[in-house]
Amino acid sequence: MKDRQNIHGSWANRWIFILAATGSAVGLGNIWKFPYIAGENGGGAFVLVYLAFILAVGVPIMMAEVLVGRRGRQSPINSMREVAIESEHSPKWALVGWVGALAGFLIFSFYSVVAGWVLAYVAGMANGDFLDIGSEQAGKAFNDLLADPQALVIWHTVFVILVMTVVMGGVNKGLERATRIMMPALFVLLTVLLGYSMTTGSFGAGVDFLFHFDPSELSWDAVLVALGHSFFTLSLGMGAIMAYGSYMPKDASIGGTVLTIAALDTLVALIAGLAIFPIVFANSLDPGAGPGLMFITLPVAFGQMPGGQIFGFLFFVLVALAAWSSAISLMEPAVAWMVERFGLGRGPVCTLLGIVVWMLGLAALSSFNVGSDVALFGMNIFDFLDFITANVMLPLGGLFVAFFTGWVLKQKITEDELDIKEARIYMAWSFSIRYIAPIAVAAIFILNLIEKLG
Ligand code: PHE
Repeated sequence: MKDRQNIHGSWANRWIFILAATGSAVGLGNIWKFPYIAGENGGGAFVLVYLAFILAVGVPIMMAEVLVGRRGRQSPINSMREVAIESEHSPKWALVGWVGALAGFLIFSFYSVVAGWVLAYVAGMANGDFLDIGSEQAGKAFNDLLADPQALVIWHTVFVILVMTVVMGGVNKGLERATRIMMPALFVLLTVLLGYSMTTGSFGAGVDFLFHFDPSELSWDAVLVALGHSFFTLSLGMGAIMAYGSYMPKDASIGGTVLTIAALDTLVALIAGLAIFPIVFANSLDPGAGPGLMFITLPVAFGQMPGGQIFGFLFFVLVALAAWSSAISLMEPAVAWMVERFGLGRGPVCTLLGIVVWMLGLAALSSFNVGSDVALFGMNIFDFLDFITANVMLPLGGLFVAFFTGWVLKQKITEDELDIKEARIYMAWSFSIRYIAPIAVAAIFILNLIEKLG
């Protein structure tokens, strides 16, 4: 068995890997995106489909990404190439890594815009801007922010700099240090918020909205969104988890580790939903409000609760931290590759790539103001970037990784890396990576196309 060393370093132990990967997974996807897409797609039935995808498709693919990364011990691009060669297949499999790195850039560009909103709210909360405001004023405050390109550029810039500073620090002094503290803190604050929303009197309506199952509310479109989100929220299909897996210690079990990460990620999304929807219903807001949902509901709630200014401030700080720890993993695959390829230090690489994503972000944020007329396939730039990454590139990336590990990789390698003692569990993983995951992704794509064309 080959044992490669990773030039970028490795996590101190298995728990650090869990924490870092959870830091990647738990982000705006859980707290901002999940509640609003659940809202737009009718709640319960959507949530159930999403949970099914996490378990049947997300978990096996996450295991596949970790195993390829740990085997290759390099950036996703080079790991894919190396492991393909080791299995006597074409080095062109590196292409999957390339598309993933590109997806990372595209996601970063709109992610950073939303993270910028979060930072603006941190400042607003600290300033007491949202004290005692009603939902109408909260909506106006959000729209005013979107209409102000200058403010958006400033916050977006701050976020890009924050992210690049951590990635520059490298695996141990950057990524590892950054994730150690903020994950538990985020968890505590979400719980506090959940406690508050239980007192709004509309908690039942929130629970009902999220868990009430009515299959007639499901469209193929919603199924695609649920599929895409299961990849997005677990950071799959673009190499982030593969890169993190390449820093994972050899002796840690992949299966148990991945299940823990997926469980924590799901828990945070559900808590965020349970914290937000009761507030939505208690204030007669629209659950289908879209991307502004969190930015309009939460300030209203914080504005009314005792100590709301402090809680609100802390909450947005923590959402910012969650976004931060996710965004570093969006850049890591490309940064690691450039360091390997050109032998450059992380400093120049991060500066260069930081400038690239910063410019892409400008395009995304113009969607809300100066560039609001620009339409790509009937969507503004921001929505298009979100759609093309989450609903197309990530599921396709995941499909290729599944196909690669299931059908291309030597079975000896997968057995070695996964090291699953129970034959039945290995069989279950193998079955879902070979059949369930690829077929589910392909079928949903095709059905969606048929529906759109028909
Ligand atoms: N998983 C992150 C979130 O839920 C987003 C992300 C996607 C991060 C892909 C890295 C890679 O916010």
